[in-house]
Amino acid sequence: MEQQKLEQLLSNMTIEEKVGQLMQFAGHFYATNENRDPVTGPEDLQVSSISVNRSGSVLGSAGAERNREIQERYLEQSRLKIPLLFMADVINGFRTIFPIPLGLGSSWDPKLVEEAQAISAKEASSAGVHVTFAPMVDLVRDPRWGRVMESTGEDSFLNEEFAKASVRGFQGDNLETDLNRVAACVKHFVGYGAVEGGRDYNKVDLSERELRENYLPAFQAALSAGCELVMTAFNTVDSIPASGNQKLMREILRKEFDFNGVLISDYGAVEELIPHGVAADGKEAAKKALLAGVDIEMMSLCYENHLKELIEEGEVPEDLLDEAVMRILQLKNKLGLFENPYRNASARNQEKNINCPEHRKVARKAAEKSCVLLKNEDVLPLSNEKIALIGPYAHNRDILGEWSIFGKQEEAVTLKEGIAQHTSNYVYALGCPMYERSEEALSEAIKAAKDSTHIILALGEGRDWSGEGRSRTSITLAENQLELLRELKKIGKPIIVVLFNGRPLELTEVEGLADGILEAWHPGSEGGAAIANLLFGKANPSGKLTMSFPRTTGQIPVYYNAYNTGRPLPKGSTGRFFSRYIDAPNEPLYPFGFGLSYANFQYESLQLSSNELAANGTIDVQVLVKNQSDYSGEEVVQLYIRDMVGEVVRPVKELKAFQKVFIPANETKQVHFSITEEMLRYHHANLEYKSDAGEFMVFVGTNSADVLSQSFDLK
Ligand code: IFM
Repeated sequence: MEQQKLEQLLSNMTIEEKVGQLMQFAGHFYATNENRDPVTGPEDLQVSSISVNRSGSVLGSAGAERNREIQERYLEQSRLKIPLLFMADVINGFRTIFPIPLGLGSSWDPKLVEEAQAISAKEASSAGVHVTFAPMVDLVRDPRWGRVMESTGEDSFLNEEFAKASVRGFQGDNLETDLNRVAACVKHFVGYGAVEGGRDYNKVDLSERELRENYLPAFQAALSAGCELVMTAFNTVDSIPASGNQKLMREILRKEFDFNGVLISDYGAVEELIPHGVAADGKEAAKKALLAGVDIEMMSLCYENHLKELIEEGEVPEDLLDEAVMRILQLKNKLGLFENPYRNASARNQEKNINCPEHRKVARKAAEKSCVLLKNEDVLPLSNEKIALIGPYAHNRDILGEWSIFGKQEEAVTLKEGIAQHTSNYVYALGCPMYERSEEALSEAIKAAKDSTHIILALGEGRDWSGEGRSRTSITLAENQLELLRELKKIGKPIIVVLFNGRPLELTEVEGLADGILEAWHPGSEGGAAIANLLFGKANPSGKLTMSFPRTTGQIPVYYNAYNTGRPLPKGSTGRFFSRYIDAPNEPLYPFGFGLSYANFQYESLQLSSNELAANGTIDVQVLVKNQSDYSGEEVVQLYIRDMVGEVVRPVKELKAFQKVFIPANETKQVHFSITEEMLRYHHANLEYKSDAGEFMVFVGTNSADVLSQSFDLK
């Protein structure tokens, strides 16, 4: 439809109809059958059928027949025949489930993420979804927060790369003509990853510099890739809740980032301006949210109940309402809904696309590339050993992760099933339920371990211990699982721990007891098959952490791009007046970028083409990576930079580039990077974004701690 027609349509709408377009309610308000949608927030909202019948979009409803039926019924009774938009959380897969985003991030493979999200889009669109609430690009440094599982980690550059890849995967090149795509909604704008104490929905207090350096870039990246929507965050930023924050939404998002797409509130976040204490009632909340630029109110009724009155009283200009409605109409138009309100939704497409073998293959590849080998004392890969497979995750289908709301556990491959593809020389024992001890299960596990040569122990956090509203004060494994590990250790057989979890865990004790540790995250539909391929050497681990693993919860936040401080601890010193803990090292147990391979990669001969960089010039960085092993494998070569003297303090290292390279057994690869002046810019005291002449260090290595270095001067 042409813009002129959209304008005509808008001019024909009553205020009630316009306000209706701004409302989003959960699918069960529309459906006639009992089939409940996934619950993604509090369920106490009462909505009249009048509101439902004039609302503009639906939350969390999927299924070709269901959404077609809802759309048909809605359009029949609608005066202006403006179709509904169906929006849902398709985070790491629709029905074919990929690893959780923290796992996908560990692949350091944006192309893979693009491929995975294109599959998610194809499946979701076949089931009648038009918009996905992804990617979540919140930078995360506190693993106590349950939602770190939804992020790609603690680094803003890496988050930018994944944000762009996800948007490309979801949206493709042309949403209107490519019906296999969905519109993406980047979230949560902004700062949600920095909730105080890791407690969900808590206060966030970030300086504007910190916001601009670390938290905003991934949003900008998603928008630069054409992301159609943005979702607000639940938290405050500088004491103003994001969903009513004019500076964030109007000044930064709309004006500075030139965002003209749809801005949607998070679930109930407009009404939450009241308990936050910045609105006395729903009327004030509606006013603040609309003035801040929130177009769609998800799952609360402030706009519905008060916008008309606010406009009639002159408290809110009608132009703002019109702008919001126009953005929603434009999105519907971009998706071609006026011509084809059902888009890709059909039983046939669903049948053909969903969970098909081709998609499962990519899910397996993604899970293989997301696992991170944390320790290997010559125990992996396995070949003909007699294995005792033990643990609450050894034969457990609950491995899809918290956001796999349209996935089916019965379609997941367990570790036991994966192992059975490689050997029949194994026995299985539960060892303990997820969070409780069991004397009987423990004795069976001990017996199985005694009869075997090697133990594979599958431990972790259940999906119910990670995700939204699941913050923890201590991030160890459950005590019953640690007890199982301690008891098995006494038997004296090599133990390989496979971990299924949604956040970095405190693994200090596990590291001391296990001979091998494979971090598998919540790996998705093909998890068990992928892990078994890695354990038996059919695939070679190549994942690298994108969030540091603390030695102890008390170190949190611990992240690689920290400041040096005025009293940095000299190497090996135990002196008192330094920035240090007296009861733990400053360093995490496993640093950002860490991950082992069966190959042995050695870095040599780091060279710069020049020790001086002109403002418009380039330095070529070259390094040799030798694979000194009989295993071919992929290595993520990482380049970090430190600005030695800045106008404001600069981090001790910042990731500026990386390459994932395949190096055949016993071969060497020369890897090149380019450094330009642009990579050296930062926000100065007055927030100006520019670089300074002076000395810079370049670090290249296999992780953020283990690097070779050189220096150069920017002229
Ligand atoms: O998209 C989510 C968001 O991330 C958290 N609250 C609920 C939304 C919709 O389900």
